[in-house]
Amino acid sequence: MNPLLSKLHPYPFERLRALNKDIVPNPALKPISLSIGEPKHATPAFIKQALSDNLQGLASYPATAGEPALRAAFAAWLGRRYGVRVDPATQVLPVAGSREALFAIAQTVVDPTRPGATVLCPNPFYQIYEGAALLAGAQVAYVNSDPARNFAADWASVPDEVWARTQLLYVCSPGNPTGAVMPLAEWKMLFELSDRHGFVIASDECYSEIYFRDEPPLGSLEAATALGRSDFRRLIAFTSLSKRSNVPGMRSGFVAGDAALIKPFLLYRTYHGSAMNPVVQQASIAAWNDEAHVVENRNLYRSKFAQVTPLLAEVLGVALPDAGFYLWADVSRVAGDQRTDDIAYAQGLLAQYNVAVLPGSLLARESDGKNPGAGRIRLALVASVDECLEAAHRILSYTRSL
Ligand SMILES: Cc1ncc(COP(=O)(O)O)c(C=O)c1O
Repeated sequence: MNPLLSKLHPYPFERLRALNKDIVPNPALKPISLSIGEPKHATPAFIKQALSDNLQGLASYPATAGEPALRAAFAAWLGRRYGVRVDPATQVLPVAGSREALFAIAQTVVDPTRPGATVLCPNPFYQIYEGAALLAGAQVAYVNSDPARNFAADWASVPDEVWARTQLLYVCSPGNPTGAVMPLAEWKMLFELSDRHGFVIASDECYSEIYFRDEPPLGSLEAATALGRSDFRRLIAFTSLSKRSNVPGMRSGFVAGDAALIKPFLLYRTYHGSAMNPVVQQASIAAWNDEAHVVENRNLYRSKFAQVTPLLAEVLGVALPDAGFYLWADVSRVAGDQRTDDIAYAQGLLAQYNVAVLPGSLLARESDGKNPGAGRIRLALVASVDECLEAAHRILSYTRSL
């Protein structure tokens, strides 16, 4: 067996299941799950229609690079959304959801034969980054998020010798779980560091269309263009229809950026066999070409967050995020002077009120002597507004009882 497999950490939900195995949730209350970040709003009818209208596509093998019309749809959407120009022939590729592509990019970029091969991850983070790095034969360095600066990653804490051996840096903006959007000044700093040390930046932007401020979140390609880097050197952005268009089961997204990265990535993907299903390609063209359903979806989240956040803020340290569909709530001070452990808080909530939430410490690693997820819980507001409000009222009762 590949010995690197033994380096993988159990997934947060697996750890949560093991931690909760002896808990009996209050049977008098209907279960509500805020733990899994899976979109639950309805898939738009026109996307389902595009799938059923294009079933003839099943009769042929798709090209890994995707249909020209699909690539054109990616480039056109990037132009409308971010005002950036990308060449559909050389600077975009379809992917089967951003997850597989975030994994595959590490296999393409990392050279494990170079001493100290390192991949840098935000902390807390989406665990695929870490698994991708470990299976690529790299070591992982974690950059803690700083709650005092809107959860910005503390890039300044990374020693020079770590930057020097970094080959790949994952950025998640809007962030999961914090919802923070990275500002232009930080992109500038990361681009300068990438120029100095030669590492690739993989920018995970799958939550970019669910936002709560007037301004849509800044994208990495947009930041690069604003800073005069229209060749996107050493930068690759990952986006997805899963959250934007409520089609997590369709497995559809794309990457865009530096043509010098896209070319070897296409080679890797050809061998890996990750071409997009032709039926999904047609439905994806329809989805990327429509914004009305995205506005509607965003409005549903806005209304839900506007109702739930102030309620929870009565008892928890929580505020409206920049973007995404999570609340990253501080539970560390809810029990008078005593600090509260996020795992114990989540277990008590499940046992007494049948509400499942994800303890923040399971989404982060201990780094620089602390786990930056400790004392926090992640609440995915993906269910209906009524269910989210019911959960919020139960959280209020539970927290007040502590
Ligand atoms: C931060 C982040 N990136 C990527 C993904 C992958 O999404 P998909 O593969 O559906 O595009 C997720 C899914 O939950 C996520 O939270």
